[in-house]
Amino acid sequence: MNDAILVTGGAGFIGSNFILTWMKTAGTPVINLDRLTYAGNPANLAPLDGDARYLFMHGDICDAELVGSLLRKEQPRAIVHFAAESHVDRSIASPEAFIRTNVQGTFVLLEQARAYWTGLGDANRANFRFLHVSTDEVYGTLGPDDPAFSETTPYAPNSPYAASKAGSDHLARAYFHTFGLPVLTTNCSNNYGPYQFPEKLIPLMILNALEGKSLPVYGDGKNVRDWLFVEDHCAAIRVVLERGRPGETYNVGGNSERANIDVVTAICNLVDEICPQPGAAPRTGLIRHVQDRPGHDRRYAIDAAKIARELGWKPAEAFAGGLRKTVRWYIENSKWVNNVRTGAYRDWIAQNYAARRQL
Ligand code: NAD
Ligand code: TYD
Repeated sequence: MNDAILVTGGAGFIGSNFILTWMKTAGTPVINLDRLTYAGNPANLAPLDGDARYLFMHGDICDAELVGSLLRKEQPRAIVHFAAESHVDRSIASPEAFIRTNVQGTFVLLEQARAYWTGLGDANRANFRFLHVSTDEVYGTLGPDDPAFSETTPYAPNSPYAASKAGSDHLARAYFHTFGLPVLTTNCSNNYGPYQFPEKLIPLMILNALEGKSLPVYGDGKNVRDWLFVEDHCAAIRVVLERGRPGETYNVGGNSERANIDVVTAICNLVDEICPQPGAAPRTGLIRHVQDRPGHDRRYAIDAAKIARELGWKPAEAFAGGLRKTVRWYIENSKWVNNVRTGAYRDWIAQNYAARRQL
């Protein structure tokens, strides 16, 4: 075993932020296994071109032979598993890919990790870690006065995405309890920040506001999400990897509950401030309430007391500052934006929004 880590899905939003910040902090080698679906973009990792510590492997986590031989060849000390289908609306339109990657893919990875780990010597077996990155959506939905999700909240996933992540969490748990594989799971709230694919709320709204397009808010816009700046999530994953207790789960959140309509309004105000259009109406005039997402969870909130108490992690970035950085990043990175908005992206936008009636 050496000091490299294997990251899956490292060309996606959180995975690429994780690898970039890992190189500036731990600085040890990273192998990135990514299938490069529509959400995977190797350009996110362009700063690592020519860096001997970084190895990109184009491949599918469902491919047991590939995963097994990669583990045997590279001998990583840990796996940090991000690879997933991650967009709720796509899971409603076409759930199958979610079952394949999130459930079957996680199973393949756990099974290959178990075989690799079983063959290690005692010290290496004790030090090995499998960190499974998951979501707060596995806990279902909260009423306005319910306490936030804790690690003991029963699972009650409502979307095919959430159900597929819940399935993967259960498999990860079972591999610790049955086989002793040193698995850690993190359940995090909604992330935002640079490199997020513009199908998700925040980047979609930033780009539409910049381009004077309508801002499609589902339903009454009062659904609440807890928002965490992506670099804070990456820092949480690093501390769980280094000091978390195998077999445990850690909830990760930003203490920043916001109604969607308030998030969209804040984006409009920032875009008005940073890119003023003298004489033009405020961007809030672009907001349109549209037909809701089926089964739309009303509220998510995270109680992150355990990771604070046991590992000393708390978020560093407040929502207002993180959102400002994010708006600026999308304004300053129009080349990245144009490269990801391919024909397939435009087809998805047409499919998801064309048929949504305005309320
Ligand atoms: P993303 O959709 O931006 O990226 C997913 C990455 O996984 C892409 O690079 C894609 O190419 C890759 N991938 C997909 N299927 C694959 C396969 N079969 N084999 C190999 N690679 C594959 O996702 P994200 O937003 O970066 O989320 C990363 C992880 O964090 C996911 O597991 C997600 O459930 C979890 N999570 C996300 C959020 C959020 O707000 N985005 C919050 C909590 C947890
Ligand atoms: P999203 O970014 O898809 O994350 P998730 O569904 O995983 O929380 O959506 C965040 C919230 O924003 C969610 O309540 C749905 C809502 N939303 C809209 O109102 N309009 C949109 O166009 C999108 C993509 C999301």
